[in-house]
Amino acid sequence: MADGSMTEEKIDFSVIDAIARKHSVERGAVIPILQEVQDTLGYVPKAVIQRIADDIDVPASEIYGIVTFYAQFRLEPLGKYLIKVCHGTACHLCGAEMVADTIAQVTGAKEGATSEDKLFTVERVACLGCCSLAPCIMINGDTHGRLTPESIDKTMQEIRKKEAASAG
Ligand code: FES
Repeated sequence: MADGSMTEEKIDFSVIDAIARKHSVERGAVIPILQEVQDTLGYVPKAVIQRIADDIDVPASEIYGIVTFYAQFRLEPLGKYLIKVCHGTACHLCGAEMVADTIAQVTGAKEGATSEDKLFTVERVACLGCCSLAPCIMINGDTHGRLTPESIDKTMQEIRKKEAASAG
């Protein structure tokens, strides 16, 4: 799985061609192609949509429609930290909206978006399986529970500090 650091300028289109060739023998191959492209690049860049369209002779608008219809596909690279905000029943009752609002304030990214500094991507998800810790989120696979605006702010500031320190 790519880390999302591959920008559109650095895409090796021969990789896209190979993926398209591999799947184009199947009928209705667009979804498997898009899945493999996303696994390879971390997202489906717009430039790649056109390339796939040319490779398999399907209109780009049709492929774009599929990418935007299915929530599994992303048109933008992921931020370094993927924050999954739980909106399952327990978290909903315990303040999931407060959590989402606070994260949007502190990171600058609403659900479904990536912060301008590309540090945070925020996603809305159903139950994370740790309801007793509601409201909770997951950051790059680590669970954070019993959240308050203060604890969310503290966690995000710690991430920013860590990133600033590693940037030198
Ligand atoms: S509802 Fe949020 S973890 Fe279950």
